[in-house]
Amino acid sequence: VVISRSGENNYENLQRHEDAAVIVNATPVGMYPNTGVSPVDLKWFPKLEGVLDVIYNPARTQLLLDAEALHIPCANGLWMLVAQAKESAEYFTGTSIDDAAIAEIHANLAAQMANIVLIGMPGCGKSTIGALLADKLGRKLVDADEEITRLAGKSIPAIFAEDGEAVFRDWETKALSQLGKQSALVIATGGGAVLREDNRLLLQRSGTVFWLDRPLFDIMSTDFQTGRPLLTAGREALERLAAERRVLYAACAHHRIAKPLLEQAISQIEEIWKGARP
Ligand code: S3P
Repeated sequence: VVISRSGENNYENLQRHEDAAVIVNATPVGMYPNTGVSPVDLKWFPKLEGVLDVIYNPARTQLLLDAEALHIPCANGLWMLVAQAKESAEYFTGTSIDDAAIAEIHANLAAQMANIVLIGMPGCGKSTIGALLADKLGRKLVDADEEITRLAGKSIPAIFAEDGEAVFRDWETKALSQLGKQSALVIATGGGAVLREDNRLLLQRSGTVFWLDRPLFDIMSTDFQTGRPLLTAGREALERLAAERRVLYAACAHHRIAKPLLEQAISQIEEIWKGARP
């Protein structure tokens, strides 16, 4: 059934199709830069078994994020983009291209679009390593703490002092979910980004997550407390915090970078990232 703005089946009578098994979005609704909107509310279709979006930028449109939240299998339009390009190339050049090329090119493009997410304790080098890595890969670096400051309209110490940690964590979830919807970024997260399960899931879905597992001793030899309200409670409290979080970092990360040293960590991440591509 084709749904259009006018005609017999339109957006006004969508409820006629509540038995739909598959929905394909063939409109540009939700496409970059006008992201965060979806053409339909999936809750109206309780029998859905699959959702396809012909859009491929961003990789996960609002429609697909909604499908994920409802645990409905879904895919974006990247495969179709590559498959039609293969056919066009065959047509224009009069040659035949193996279908296997579609999977190979698709995997390559998907890896290029995925974000690189850095997690770990404060002071472990997320921002520094992130900046150099972004530079090397020609990507944009975004710092989740900066995004939080921008959204909240005040500094992190001010949020902690005036509103408390719970409010800070809400801002953090908001910032991470906005960043997670974008593609091809290097994202430096705050040390507590892994505390909420929702955050861990959204980071994992947005790309490849690297845990910079820097020994606490090294971290404490730096000026780690500056601008970090949670870290002023002394060594023991910090050790406790680090111990509690290890399990969460491990649960969230796709890859652990042990004792990350600048150049070494960057090449390690680069190698893993390239290795993930065919
Ligand atoms: C926090 C770490 C900070 C910042 C906030 C809370 C934490 O980020 O998000 O102060 O809970 O560990 P950095 O890890 O970049 O210092």
